[in-house]
Amino acid sequence: MCGIIGIASSKKDRTLTDVLVSSLARLEYRGYDSVGVASLDEGGIDVRKAKGKVVEVVKRKKINEMNGYLFLGHTRWATHGAPNDQNAHPHIDCTGKIAVVHNGTLTNYKELREELESLGHKFRSDTDTEVIPHLVEEFMKRGMDSFSAFKAAISSLKGSYAILMIMEGERRIFFARLDNPLVIGLGEDNKNFVASEYAPFLPFTSTVVTIQDGEVGFVTPSSVYIEKDGKVVDINDRIHKLNFSVISASKGGYSHFMLKEIHESPLAVKETISTMLSDEAVVEASRIISNANRVFVVAAGTSYHAGLFFTRYLNLSSLTAIPVIASEYSSYKAKSGDVVLALSQSGETLDVKMAIKKFRNDGASIISITNVIESTISRESDVKLYMRAGPELGVAATKTFVSQVASLMILKSRVLNEDTSYLAKAPQILEDAVEETEGKMKRWSTLIDFPSVYYLSKGIGVPLAMEGALKIKEVAYVHAEAYPAGESKHGPIALVSEGFPVIFVNPGLDELKVNMEEMKSRGAKIFSISTVNTNLTDNEVIVKSERDLEPFALSPPLQLLAFYVSVNKGIDPDRPRNLAKTVTVE
Ligand code: F6R
Repeated sequence: MCGIIGIASSKKDRTLTDVLVSSLARLEYRGYDSVGVASLDEGGIDVRKAKGKVVEVVKRKKINEMNGYLFLGHTRWATHGAPNDQNAHPHIDCTGKIAVVHNGTLTNYKELREELESLGHKFRSDTDTEVIPHLVEEFMKRGMDSFSAFKAAISSLKGSYAILMIMEGERRIFFARLDNPLVIGLGEDNKNFVASEYAPFLPFTSTVVTIQDGEVGFVTPSSVYIEKDGKVVDINDRIHKLNFSVISASKGGYSHFMLKEIHESPLAVKETISTMLSDEAVVEASRIISNANRVFVVAAGTSYHAGLFFTRYLNLSSLTAIPVIASEYSSYKAKSGDVVLALSQSGETLDVKMAIKKFRNDGASIISITNVIESTISRESDVKLYMRAGPELGVAATKTFVSQVASLMILKSRVLNEDTSYLAKAPQILEDAVEETEGKMKRWSTLIDFPSVYYLSKGIGVPLAMEGALKIKEVAYVHAEAYPAGESKHGPIALVSEGFPVIFVNPGLDELKVNMEEMKSRGAKIFSISTVNTNLTDNEVIVKSERDLEPFALSPPLQLLAFYVSVNKGIDPDRPRNLAKTVTVE
């Protein structure tokens, strides 16, 4: 996830850079690896960009002194290429007359780059984005006008994108959108905006025009043109007046980042699947794992729960996988031939770093999956894999959990030589689960009125029950414990009395009905989040799923329940007490 903004003004005006800088600050949460700006005036395009935070880069690169009619701005969350100065956006063509900013990931950029290089194009970065200005340059060389060349370039791309482009000699900002957000703001005084979201331009205008997937067009200081499949779109039906504040806008209109991020899960998983399926490093990692003596899956908290899926799948094959809670690394000894699979969304968790160090000294090789390009854990790994969930600001892991699960499913399918096509349905299953369970979870949240809750499941559902219990503990301060349902009879059931809430997480297993009856007969208040109808409680939500995709159907209601219990109790789920997003202490 990155943040992009474009400003088109009829007047060349120094104060525009103030507008741009304040917009970039409001976009920074979408990506804080690097920042870049391009301006355009009669003198041509001026690009200033660097690794670092908005305030630092603005000062170092004197962005306040830039001048022009058109501006592009970008805050980067690295996906292809390390977070450094060259990889910061905007990217330009060979002549420096075309500048582009992009949010998203292009899955066919390697082929496009090879083709463009064979035609003599010189690249300056490792990003996927840089193919775009070169493609436009190439199409213009072949005689196309600027808009036709832009459209031809866009139709060569595979993947997801929100793209803005400026070009010397043009007083317009070209845009295109597919699977990544992009909205237009109609400003006063002959000034228009186009950005990833409303927040950056909301202090200047609340009149907006929405852009839909598959649309291309351009914004001038006084007009907007949109086209889809070659047909002009009438924008009059698309103009709205917003009535929310800048703060709520940075949360995309959601009350909290946690809720926004749960809703972003389908996109996060879609991006993760499409990039991991074309990542050579995944093939390399699967080769190493297939030949490993043992695989230690090392992680903490939510990442550990995601790791349990992987160990389960591998242990059901002929391979040996051992889940290791990172802080407990000293209880294990690896040896040469063993492999560590380190899972960490932040890539900075100290317990994981220490475990890696120890296991490397024991002789193991290290593979990691993180959500942050070139994070410390990635740098310390022999093979670096990445999920593509985009930045997660809520303290509780939500979209990164399901993205981790998706990455691990791809990896295990590669290791076990299985078909991966079943994963294509994961984003839709997630989307349906979020939409269809949110109302019910809001209602259930008022029924969780006991100081303690059990989460019970079986098989593939156990790590989900553990994750559900962790979520409600951390954001809603409800004491919760998760068990394999069969194990609950061996002690935990002693606590169950009249009204004790027990949440069953059921990935379609009939066997769980017996455990539901057991709990019910002791007076427990039974809740069931299930892919099948059990008819054993009024408090049942059925989620649509397919075989092996149950984690995507069952996770959203568990996360939403924790969220709504938290909000009901007047807690801020984005900042629960005593917790930090990244734990860099022992
Ligand atoms: C729970 C949560 C934590 C993290 C844990 C590991 O919602 O966020 O339990 O999962 O601190 O963090 P990473 O994955 O960054 O290593």
